[in-house]
Amino acid sequence: MKGIGVILLAAGQGVRMKSRLPKVLHPLAGKPLFLHTLGTALRLEPSAIAVIIGHGAEAVRRAYSDGNVNWVIQEKQLGTGHAVLCAKEGFRDFQGDVVILSGDVPLIREQTLNMMINIHRECKASLTLMTASLDVPTGYGRILRDARGKISVVVEERDATEAQKRIREVNAGVYVASPQFLFSALEQVKNHNQQGEYYLPDVVAIGLTREKEIATVHVDDPREMMGVNTREELAAMEKLFQERINRKWMDAGVTLKDPQTTYIEAGVTIGKDTVIGPNSHLRGRTVIGERCQIDGSAYLTDTEVDDDVHLLFSVVITSSRIASGAIVGPFAHLRPGTSLGRNVHIGNFVEVKQATIGDGTKANHLTYLGDVTIGRETNIGAGTITCNYDGFNKYRTSIGDRVQVGSDSTLVAPISLGDDVYVATATTVRHDIPAGALVFNERREAVREGWTQQKRKKMKGSKN
Ligand code: UD1
Ligand code: CA
Repeated sequence: MKGIGVILLAAGQGVRMKSRLPKVLHPLAGKPLFLHTLGTALRLEPSAIAVIIGHGAEAVRRAYSDGNVNWVIQEKQLGTGHAVLCAKEGFRDFQGDVVILSGDVPLIREQTLNMMINIHRECKASLTLMTASLDVPTGYGRILRDARGKISVVVEERDATEAQKRIREVNAGVYVASPQFLFSALEQVKNHNQQGEYYLPDVVAIGLTREKEIATVHVDDPREMMGVNTREELAAMEKLFQERINRKWMDAGVTLKDPQTTYIEAGVTIGKDTVIGPNSHLRGRTVIGERCQIDGSAYLTDTEVDDDVHLLFSVVITSSRIASGAIVGPFAHLRPGTSLGRNVHIGNFVEVKQATIGDGTKANHLTYLGDVTIGRETNIGAGTITCNYDGFNKYRTSIGDRVQVGSDSTLVAPISLGDDVYVATATTVRHDIPAGALVFNERREAVREGWTQQKRKKMKGSKN
C-alpha cells in the first residue's frame, strides 16, 4: 500500500517462555514465530521496514535471509516504547503512516491491517490501535474509555487495579501511527510503572493531552490478535495455526481423515485428491502431488512426492524424492539423498540413504541400501545389506538393470554389479561383477544326519 512503513518488534527475550531461545525464534508451524508476522508485513509492500532486534539479535537476523529489511538493534530491552523509538532515525524522511506489529502476534491478517490503515486515514488520526474483547483478558493491556466511549488510556495488567482487570477490551499490540506524532510522543513516555519499562501504549494518553485524534479498531475474532508469551500459549497457537492450514488444504481438495492429528507446516504444498491419514506430519518444504495416498503416521521433511504415490502406514522420509507410482512402507525409512524412480517399491524395515533407485526396482523387506545407485527393474532380496562403511570411509555401490540380489546378501563397497547379474542367496560379494554373471560363495552347507538325537542323549546323560 502507498506510503506505508512497518516497525516490527522482536527484541524481547520472552521471559515467560523460560527458554534460552529468543521467543520470536520458537517455531510455529515449522517457522520461527516472527517470520509469520514479517511475511504479513511484507505483503503490505511497505516502502520502509524496520525489525527491532536485541535479545539473540544475530540468531534472529540469521533466521531471515531472503529479503531487504532494516535491522535495528535495541541494545537493552527497556520496553516496547523504547523499542519503537530505536527506529526513529530510519523514518526521519518517511512520508506516510507507520504500522507497528509485534513479532509474537502471528495470526494478524493483511486484510485487517489494510482496514486499520483506511480507518486511520479516514479519521485523520495520529494513532489507531487495534482492540479486541476477550473472555479471559489476563496478561493484556486493558482499554479504558471515558463517559463518551472514547479511549482514554491503556493500563497494563501489572499496573491495573482489580476493577480495571475486569475490563474485557484489550490492546492487541497492533498500531497505525503518524511518524511525526509517534516519535515525538515517545520522547515523552516515562517508565514509572511496575516493570520500570517505557510502554508504547502510553502514547495514547500523551496524544489526548495534545488533543490528537486517537482511533480504535475492534476486531471481532480475537484469535487474530492472540499473542504468544508462554509455552501454553504457543501450543494453543500451534493448534489454531494447524486448524487454519488444514482448512486451507481441505478447501483446495485434499482429504484429511483426521485433521486433529494432521500437522502440516506453513511451507508445504499438497495436490488435489490426495488422502492423508491420521498422525501425519508434513514438514519443511515438502511437496506432495495429486492423488497420493498417505495411510498414516507419516513423518515427511523437505521431501518431494510426485502424483499417485502410496505411502503405507508409518514411514519416516527426509530430503528425498519419490516419483509417481512408487509404494513405500509400512515401516520404511528414507534418509537424505534418496531418489526413487517411477513404480519403485520400498517395503517394511527397509532403510535407504544417498540412493538413486531406477524405475520399477523393488526392495521389499529388511534391507539397508546406503550410498548406492540401482538401475531399473532390479529386485533386492530380503536382508540385503550394502556394506558402505569400513570404519574409516564411506564407499558407493552400483547395481545395474534387471539384477536379482538373493536374500541375505552382503555387497561390500566399493563395488559394481553389471546389468542382469544374479547374486545367489546369502552371498558376500567383494568384487565387481560383470553383466550377466552369476555370483555365489563356494562353501556349501554340511549335513550330519541324526545329530540332534545324539546331542540330546548326550546332554541328558551329562545331567545325571
Ligand atoms: C504488549 C502491550 C499490551 C498488549 C500486548 C498485546 C506494552 C507495554 N504492552 O504487552 O498492552 O495487550 O502487547 O500482545 O506494549 N519488545 C521489544 N523490546 C522491548 C520489549 C518488547 O522489542 O524492550 C517486543 C517483544 O519482543 C514482543 C513485543 O515487543 O515481540 C511485545 O512485547 P511483550 O513483552 O510481549 O509485551 P506484552 O506484555 O505482551
Ligand atoms: Ca506479548
